[in-house]
Amino acid sequence: MSTQEKGYFTEENSADVVVSRIGPSTDARLARVMAAITRHLHAAVKEVEPTQEEWMAAIQFLTKTGHKCDDWRQEFILLSDVMGVSMLVDAINNRKPSGASESTVLGPFHVPDVPELPMGANICLDGKGDPMLIKGRIVGTDGAPLAGVKLDVWQTNDDGFYDVQQKGIQPDFNLRGVFRTADDGTYHFWGAKPRFYPIPDDGPVGQLLGKLGRHPYRPAHLHFILEAAGFETLITHIFDPDDRYIHSDAVFGVKESLLAKFDLIEDPVRISAEGAQGPFYEVVHNFVLAPTT
Ligand code: BEZ
Ligand code: FE
Repeated sequence: MSTQEKGYFTEENSADVVVSRIGPSTDARLARVMAAITRHLHAAVKEVEPTQEEWMAAIQFLTKTGHKCDDWRQEFILLSDVMGVSMLVDAINNRKPSGASESTVLGPFHVPDVPELPMGANICLDGKGDPMLIKGRIVGTDGAPLAGVKLDVWQTNDDGFYDVQQKGIQPDFNLRGVFRTADDGTYHFWGAKPRFYPIPDDGPVGQLLGKLGRHPYRPAHLHFILEAAGFETLITHIFDPDDRYIHSDAVFGVKESLLAKFDLIEDPVRISAEGAQGPFYEVVHNFVLAPTT
C-alpha cells in the first residue's frame, strides 16, 4: 500500500482514509484546506449521525441554494452571511492596528462607478424620508487628517430598500454617491434616515432562517468604502444604535465601534445654519484608516 492508501474505509478511520488520498503533488494550500474541511465535516457527520433522508434533504438544500444563484443573486454568500462565516472571514482578513476603524460585510447592494458628487450634496434624489446630515473627519492612525479620501456610500430609503431593489420606483443612484474628503479630512453629505430591512429571504436561506426561529432583518445602517493611497481600504458601516434589531443582525455585522448616534436636530438656529427646511437627523462619525504595511 502506498502512503496514499490507508486501507479500507471504516466508520472509525473515515477522515484519515479520505485525507490520505490527497496526492503528493497537490498544491499545498489546497491540500491543507481540503484536509481540514474533510476532518471537520466527518466529525460533524459522526456527531449528528444523519439518516439517509436527512442527508438527501441537505443535498437538496444545497442544490436549491445553487439554483437560486444568478448574476444578481448570490444565495451561497447569503448562506455564508447567516452562518457568521462572512463576518469571520472579514475579521481574519482585517485585523487592524489599535485605533483604526473596524470593518464589516460588504453586502450585495454595492454598485460600482457611482458618480462623484461635490461635498455637501444630497444623495436622497426623491426627497423621501427624514433628512439626515452625515459628517465627520477621516484621519490616519497617527491622527493626521487625510485629504482626498474616496468615500463610496450607499444606504436604503426609509422603506428599507436599496435603489437596485426598486428599479422604476426609486431613481437610479438614489441614496448612493462618491465623495472626496477636504484638505482637513472632513466630509459631509445629506441622505435620508435609513431603516431596518430583511436580507433577501425568498429563497432556501430565508426558509432555513424561518426553521431556525431566526428573523432576516439587518438594523438600519449606512455602508462606506473608504479608499486612500497608502492606506488599507476600509469596507464598513455605521449603525443606528436605537434600531430594534441592533442586537440581532441577521448577518452578525454589528460591532460596538460602528454604532453612531442619530440625533434629531430641532433647534431653529441649527436648522437655518445648515440650510435645512425643518428638523433633521445628524450623524457625526469619524474614521481612522490603517496605513498599508
Ligand atoms: C447589506 O447590508 O446590504 C447586506 C449584507 C449582507 C446580506 C444582505 C444585505
Ligand atoms: Fe445594507
